[in-house]
Amino acid sequence: MNHTDFELIQLGHPHLRRQAEPVTEILSTETQHLLDELLAFVIAKNGVGIAAPQVDINQRLFIMCSRPNSRYPLAPEMAPTFVINPEIIWRSDEVEKGWEGCLSLPGIRGLVPRHQAIKVQYTSRSNEHIEVEYTGFIARVFQHELDHLDGIVYIDRVESTHEIMMEKEWLKQFTNN
Ligand code: NI
Repeated sequence: MNHTDFELIQLGHPHLRRQAEPVTEILSTETQHLLDELLAFVIAKNGVGIAAPQVDINQRLFIMCSRPNSRYPLAPEMAPTFVINPEIIWRSDEVEKGWEGCLSLPGIRGLVPRHQAIKVQYTSRSNEHIEVEYTGFIARVFQHELDHLDGIVYIDRVESTHEIMMEKEWLKQFTNN
């Protein structure tokens, strides 16, 4: 499927609440094509990450591709990272709150507590076993995207309705836009 044919599913769609299935054929043409199209899609949508369930594909994979853009002017720059069958194998005791948005919940932002550091393992798109530690914003993106594979969205983790804002207000108050 071409990325221009993906349907971005939004909060309320029951498929956003499913447990996704492990990926078994990582090197297959279908999976490799899906990864390429998902990257093109998330870049076109100014996301810093996207999980397959958000385009109604029930597989345990996501992409992290943080960089500054109109939705996240202050996001750090990183090479796109394809994450397949991920697990968190260690979490810091330290938890910090940070603002998150999501393509599946357009127009709002929420203040979400996440572990400041995590050690993770996953399979790369070339079928290599990866173990790596992430901190700060990238750790936050990883936890947000992994939640999508388990049917969880970030507002499930927001502690108070006073910590939800419209995106327009957030951009005014927290960036120079
Ligand atoms: Ni999301």
